[in-house]
Amino acid sequence: MIPLFFTVINNSMNIKETLFLFSVLSKNAVFKTKRWYQSMVSGKNRLTKDKAYNASKSNHFIPMMEEDRYGDRSDAFDKIIAQTHKHFWDPNDSKYINYDIDFAMDSQYLVNPRIFCLELQVPSIAEKLTEQQKIKLANESFGWVLSQILHGEQGALSLSASLCHILKDPGAQEYAANQTREEARHVQAFTKYIEKRWGKPYKVGDTLGRVLDNIVSSDVVYKKIVGMQLLVEGLAMGAFSMAHADTNDPLLKRLLQLVMSDEAFHHKFGKIWADRTVPQLNNNEHKEVEDWAESLFLELIFNLANPREKKDIFASVGLDWEWVLKETQKHFDLYETVREEMKRPNNIFRVLVKTLLNAHIITKRTKRTYANFVNMRELKDEGDEFKPAEEIAELGMKHLAKVNDKAA
Ligand SMILES: [Fe+2]
Ligand SMILES: [Fe+2]
Repeated sequence: MIPLFFTVINNSMNIKETLFLFSVLSKNAVFKTKRWYQSMVSGKNRLTKDKAYNASKSNHFIPMMEEDRYGDRSDAFDKIIAQTHKHFWDPNDSKYINYDIDFAMDSQYLVNPRIFCLELQVPSIAEKLTEQQKIKLANESFGWVLSQILHGEQGALSLSASLCHILKDPGAQEYAANQTREEARHVQAFTKYIEKRWGKPYKVGDTLGRVLDNIVSSDVVYKKIVGMQLLVEGLAMGAFSMAHADTNDPLLKRLLQLVMSDEAFHHKFGKIWADRTVPQLNNNEHKEVEDWAESLFLELIFNLANPREKKDIFASVGLDWEWVLKETQKHFDLYETVREEMKRPNNIFRVLVKTLLNAHIITKRTKRTYANFVNMRELKDEGDEFKPAEEIAELGMKHLAKVNDKAA
């Protein structure tokens, strides 16, 4: 009886093991088929011209484990990667930034309202408000702008994480990992600043929200890089540079300088992509990239100048947004106003148009769109750099090098 019992147990163990082995082997066979398929389609991202931007599909991880991939690293990003630690900062460490600095939000303009609250330049609107209400409208409007920047930073964080997830070149991937980390500290830094001055951020604007959603969730590498590293980052550098020049708040000035020390590198990554890709595009491909950039540019301009997005802010000082819109349209030719503003050297859109022009993403076909806002010839003669922003970033990096050396 007892030996029979053991035989039964042994046999059932064997059956179990055999079944387990069979299930492992059949799952491995499925994996091998998946590996064959994913390797076959891997790297074929739309319009990829330089292998440093080869990418797998976002739901395909197997090509990331190809044994030959690890050693196949471009050196295009090594300089940027090597500098990461030099401009390190921590928004939670008062050695870098002190969030205890207060600001009299009720009685002082946080930034010059000329740029960030255009409506106050309309006499019929300004007349209706007391000085305190004007300050409230200007400061709340800027809170709305900074909230949009915070959403943009979240977009940059998620987008660089998504690039890190799909780029096959280990150098490009390391760059994207570093950018992700830097964007994460920008999200934290702006969150803390907004909490300190306004309590909580405003909702993302419909247009900006849609644009960010499109570029972050796209699987196409060029759409991500043109959309974020060239367009949104370019726009952010312009906005930071203007706010830095126009703010009365030393805490904001410091915050912007620190953020810009990182952003200058993100912008460079976009430029490297353009240098290695745009000259190799055929006519149809070039048209596709140029059209993508133009459509995003127009949408972003619309978002920044649209009073519908600030309905609640107008209501908080007793103004009806539709009346504000009517009065603003009566007083301003919006294109004319933006064009006048763009003549200023640190204008918000100037850096963006300049980057696209120097990257040859703007040609005769779309020049007109941008010429509505800026003198293109004048821009071309200015060369590659965007001096006001680069100077702020450089000063920030020098300061950070000192703080970081001391801490080492
Ligand atoms: Fe950022
Ligand atoms: Fe960035």
